[in-house]
Amino acid sequence: MSRGLFITLEGMDGAGKTTHLEWLQHHLAARGLPLVVTREPGGTALGEALRQLLLDSHEPRQPDTEALLMFAARREHIATVIAPALAAGKWVLCDRFTDATYAYQSGGSGMDWERVAVLENWVQGGLQPDLTLYFDLEPEVGRARTRQARAPDRFEREQIDFYRRVRAAYLRRAHEYPERIRVIDAARTLAEIQAELENIMIKY
Ligand code: TMP
Repeated sequence: MSRGLFITLEGMDGAGKTTHLEWLQHHLAARGLPLVVTREPGGTALGEALRQLLLDSHEPRQPDTEALLMFAARREHIATVIAPALAAGKWVLCDRFTDATYAYQSGGSGMDWERVAVLENWVQGGLQPDLTLYFDLEPEVGRARTRQARAPDRFEREQIDFYRRVRAAYLRRAHEYPERIRVIDAARTLAEIQAELENIMIKY
C-alpha cells in the first residue's frame, strides 16, 4: 500500500485557514480519498490538554518552554495519529505543524531558529509534510478579521509587531522550501482562493 499524503495548513491568525481546511476536506472527500483531519497543538488527548494550557494561559513564559511543549504534543501526535494514518494509506490534513513553531516561537517570540531545527529533527526524524498551504495575510487585516469573528485567545492578543515577525518567518520558510510550501494570498475573495486550491490539488 502506498503512503498517504501529508498536507499541513498554515496561516496568519484571521487568514481564514479554518474555512479553507473545511473546503479542502470536502473537496478531497468527494474524490473518495480516505482522510484524517487533525490539528496542532492537539490531535491527541495529551495534545488537546497541552493546547488548552498553551492557548488559555495568560502567564508569560519562555519561548523555548513553549516550543518544547509544542514539540512534546507533536511527538505524541506523530507517533499515535499521523504516522499510522499515513502508513495505512490515508491522507492527513493537519491544521498547523512545525512551520508554526518557526513562525511563532522563533519569528514572533525570538527563540533561536536553529534550536527549533534541532527539535524538529529530534521529534520528526525524516517526516515532513508533502504539501503545506500557507495562507498569507498582512497582520493588520488579520487582526481586524479575528476581532470581528470571536474573542482573541492568548496568542491573538499579542501586538501587531509580533505578527509582522510571524509573517516574515513564514515567508522565510516558504523561501527555503519552495517545492513544499505554497503561499496563498488570503486577502482575495473566497471564490478566488478556492479556485487556486482546486488548481493546486489537481496534481495530487
Ligand atoms: P489556531 O487553532 O487558531 O491555529 O490557533 C493555534 C495557535 O497556536 C496559533 O495562534 C498559533 C499557535 N501555535 C504556536 O505558537 N506554535 C505552534 O507550533 C503551533 C502548532 C501553534
